Amino acid sequence: MMRNRVAVMHGVNLDMLERRPTEVYGDLSLPKLERQISQFAHPLGLETRFFQSNFEGEFVEELHRAGDYADGLVLNPGAWTHYAWALRDAVEIAGLPAVEIHLSDIEQREEWRHHSVLADVVVARVMGQGVDGYRTALEKLKDAM
Ligand code: DQA
Repeated sequence: MMRNRVAVMHGVNLDMLERRPTEVYGDLSLPKLERQISQFAHPLGLETRFFQSNFEGEFVEELHRAGDYADGLVLNPGAWTHYAWALRDAVEIAGLPAVEIHLSDIEQREEWRHHSVLADVVVARVMGQGVDGYRTALEKLKDAM
């Protein structure tokens, strides 16, 4: 069976990219980002399905459902990355290979961004490569699916 279905899940404030500091996030919007991700996925033979929420409980419930429609996860939880332990548990519950991705390099930014609750439940972590990081994330996920 082909395992090629990827749930790309964006967390809190990722729907506001065009209103965030351009020196960090560039000239991006969520629709632009999703178009790029679809273009990266196509040559890799991956199908993408997108989800974004600003509500942690909604994001957790989507993770609970993800096993019904996806073979792997690409996750950018935004600021939840740094403190939302319920997300870490929900990724474990999902039982799917997951790659953590950040547009910026969270390890080179403020101290509070250095920690990730997902670090021990993901197969790979990608950060600081901007949009291109999503291609890397999809490649790493494909290897793990
Ligand atoms: C982010 C980094 C987080 O620290 C921040 O809160 C975000 C975006 C990134 O993609 O670089 O919202 O996950």
